[in-house]
Amino acid sequence: MHRKPLQVMRQLTKHVGPLSYIMAIAILLGVLGHATAAAIPILGAVAVAKLINNEVLISYELIITLAILCGIMRGVLRYFEQYLNHYIAFKLLATLRNNAFDKLRELDVATLEDKKRGGLLTLITSDIETLEVFYAHTISPVGIAIVISVVSLSLIWAIAGFPLALFALFGDLILGVLIPRINHRRLSKSGVEYRKTLSEFNSRFLDTVSGIREIVMKNAGSLKQKEVNENSNKLLDIMKMQNVKIARSNALIQLCTALITVVALLISITLMRQEGYSLGLAIIGFTILISTFGPVIALSSLPANLTQTLASANRLLDLMTEKANIMNVIDGQNIDLERVEIKNMKFSYGEDHILNDVTLKIEKGQIASIVGESGSGKSTILKLLLRERDINAGCILYNEINIQKINTESLLSNITLINQTTYLFDDTIEYNLKIAAPGATEDEIIKACKQASIHEFISSLEEGYKTRVGTLGDKLSTGEKQRIGLARAFLRGSSLILLDEPTSNVDALNECVILRALNESKKDKAIIIVSHRESTAAIADVQYKLENGILYKIDNFATHIDV
Ligand SMILES: Nc1ncnc2c1ncn2[C@@H]1O[C@H](COP(=O)(O)OP(=O)(O)OP(=O)(O)O)[C@@H](O)[C@H]1O
Ligand SMILES: [Mg+2]
Repeated sequence: MHRKPLQVMRQLTKHVGPLSYIMAIAILLGVLGHATAAAIPILGAVAVAKLINNEVLISYELIITLAILCGIMRGVLRYFEQYLNHYIAFKLLATLRNNAFDKLRELDVATLEDKKRGGLLTLITSDIETLEVFYAHTISPVGIAIVISVVSLSLIWAIAGFPLALFALFGDLILGVLIPRINHRRLSKSGVEYRKTLSEFNSRFLDTVSGIREIVMKNAGSLKQKEVNENSNKLLDIMKMQNVKIARSNALIQLCTALITVVALLISITLMRQEGYSLGLAIIGFTILISTFGPVIALSSLPANLTQTLASANRLLDLMTEKANIMNVIDGQNIDLERVEIKNMKFSYGEDHILNDVTLKIEKGQIASIVGESGSGKSTILKLLLRERDINAGCILYNEINIQKINTESLLSNITLINQTTYLFDDTIEYNLKIAAPGATEDEIIKACKQASIHEFISSLEEGYKTRVGTLGDKLSTGEKQRIGLARAFLRGSSLILLDEPTSNVDALNECVILRALNESKKDKAIIIVSHRESTAAIADVQYKLENGILYKIDNFATHIDV
């Protein structure tokens, strides 16, 4: 969604609220800092004025002392101004990150799955980091520029008269309003494009790293290298284009500043020639004019950094205004799952009708299997049982309670889904098990692993449960990972275990171990298993087949296989 820069800035500024008193102090320190910096040349001009006609009452000694003090104070004031600005900025970045994480937690799995992981990573890390420019280097410079301009215009008017003050106002408007607008218009498009391309680059790069095994196995290294090079060149080209534009903008700022200075000098000389006009005061007025331009020139340079910041902020605001497809239920009922029933369920992804009539019934102590062709909608049924999306017609009941009335937390604590591959984090086996139940004791972990027939294997490892599994669980076989996935489900104590092709990637031995573990643990669990394999489906007490969106119960299915 495209938002106007002012709209984005207004949204960002809202967060400053509780810290606005610190921002006010930072602006005050900034104003004093710039005033002390401007005071040094102005004191010089005062000394020259005194030299010309001695109409200045303060002594040279005092002028030199004040100039030294101003120089020292400039450093001190600048330090504290920057300190406060960065204090505000990093406090706000932390708040924004928390808000973004809260939003991600609020969004449902289906919405999150639609997002590119690299894009989310860019948003949480570099996009939010870029906002530092706005909080530390934008708000207070604008405040400082306004105050310094008003004070210097008043001084110029009082000391050198109205015409020079009027021209100073004209110069301020050119450098502080017109040029920032021109620069923003020039730079905003490439700023937005840079952030978008960076996010895409990160997404593709993460995708490439995740698929490294496929790349090596398929000998696709040079193809991927070419792709990464192309993408990084694209990013580089946008950056170069942006830098050229920034250089041109800076040249424009320098040119205008020089022109304004020359014209101001001409006006001052013209004024000096008029009768009754003091040469000394004209020099002081001119010096005030040129030495107080700094904060206004800083505004001209803002768009160079701000365009990317606003593009990042826009992406953050997109996330923050995103609506979840499924809202978490918090005022519904908690359940202790005993029975699952799906009645005449229909479901479509948009216009695409996937499920037309799905009816299924299962209770604790039973295993149900679902077979069906690839793409028929088997995984979709499992996702709907987890309420990743809402159904179009019919209902899903747990203990006769509609799924929509059950508290999300309670629903999820009753169900575990095991996929074709179990994702393991780059940490110890113990850590990976505790993900399912953070408070689990050592005995409970061992019991769950024994149930999943993985305890013996883990114990045989040199470091046992403390063994690190490596990035993407690379140090374990698929069968071992699946059994850890199963142990997680047992540890969690879920009453309903959903398995989506759990044995499709493992050998017959591992399959047998997994199926036996399931069969032995079914008395206090309801289990739904989706599989292509007859051997897997055969452990079921009740078998279903999904065809053309209709779930049929198979009455005379293959004899129950003892595993
Ligand atoms: N998020 C989604 N958005 C749109 N369509 C989807 C989405 N997820 C799945 N589909 C489509 O819905 C259909 C059913 O998908 P599903 O994954 O449930 O099939 P499946 O029976 O599990 O297949 P397989 O045996 O290959 O795993 C497919 O045509 C798929 O392309
Ligand atoms: Mg599937």
